[in-house]
Amino acid sequence: MTSGLQGITPYIFGTTRLGDPKIPRPERLKAARAAMDEGVWFHTSHTYGEALDVLAEAFSAEPVKIPKLIIKIGWETIGQLRQVIEQNLEPLGLPGMQLGQLCLGGELAEDYARGGDCYRVFRQVKEEGLVNGFVVEAFPWTSNQSVRALRGGYTEGIIDGFIFYLNPLQRFASNELWDVIIAREQPILALRTVSGGPVHSLRDVPGFAWKDYLQKRAVEVAPIFERSGIKSWTEFCMRFAHSFPLVQATIGSTSKTDNLDEFLEAAKAIVPLPEDIVSEIGILQSRWSDEVDIHAEKWSM
Ligand SMILES: NC(=O)c1ccc[n+]([C@@H]2O[C@H](COP(=O)([O-])OP(=O)(O)OC[C@H]3O[C@@H](n4cnc5c(N)ncnc54)[C@H](OP(=O)(O)O)[C@@H]3O)[C@@H](O)[C@H]2O)c1
Repeated sequence: MTSGLQGITPYIFGTTRLGDPKIPRPERLKAARAAMDEGVWFHTSHTYGEALDVLAEAFSAEPVKIPKLIIKIGWETIGQLRQVIEQNLEPLGLPGMQLGQLCLGGELAEDYARGGDCYRVFRQVKEEGLVNGFVVEAFPWTSNQSVRALRGGYTEGIIDGFIFYLNPLQRFASNELWDVIIAREQPILALRTVSGGPVHSLRDVPGFAWKDYLQKRAVEVAPIFERSGIKSWTEFCMRFAHSFPLVQATIGSTSKTDNLDEFLEAAKAIVPLPEDIVSEIGILQSRWSDEVDIHAEKWSM
């Protein structure tokens, strides 16, 4: 395994819920500190509301437990990359991060796809110790740039893997990128462990799924989950992500220590799901990708 992913924890604590001001701050701090106690890696971004502020408070209370961080960086130009790194590290008071999650758009995405100058800057940023490694974010509408970069061989030796929604209801690498990632054995970080919440709530509670398509997918996946006989949706999802040998970790968020305990329990001795279940969901995901995902407006799903 490449250096940036060395020591990665199979469950990574996502921090969107830490950023939500509607949740009492002491509750969010408690969840953050409980996750720090467990030594799991964290995933964050300055775009997640108050998340960095809550993390800064938790880190300063117990600096020896500061976790390895995956942080979203980008976006559209090479110059912006350093600014965004600073925007995240400065509030946390940290000299560097474990993994920079490259969120690439505009001219920076095009440069990445054609093997341009950005790779020199990626290397510099790494040599300076601002990041220990990189993963590239993929969405259906950005998958093609990674297909081009991988086929060109440009990512070798500098990009440690790819990060995208991969859970029972979403596989946000296009089918073409998914096939290239599998063929080239690229490490994967799977986002949104439980697809946003329990599958029955996503299916049955009006407004629980933030988009209609997720409610429809929950209708298709709930019977597969029920048939598996697994009681906990969190366990089912943890096992789903880790049924793919290239998956190194799955990233899920919570503001509640009980739900954190469920993630941690599920991550203790992960057994892949039975093959027939994985392939049944895989067939759905391949269809959803072609019929829905790759036609979607950017950022609409
Ligand atoms: N492009 C990107 O980089 C990107 C995009 C999306 C997400 N992410 C990362 O991935 C992380 C996870 O994504 P996510 O929050 O969208 O999806 P998620 O982890 O699948 O779902 C989180 C939601 O599920 C609830 N939940 C968690 N465990 C539960 C349980 N046992 N029972 C009932 N509800 C439970 C949480 O609420 P409670 O707080 O009430 O537990 C929260 O509302 C984010 O925090 C972020 O770090 C990255």
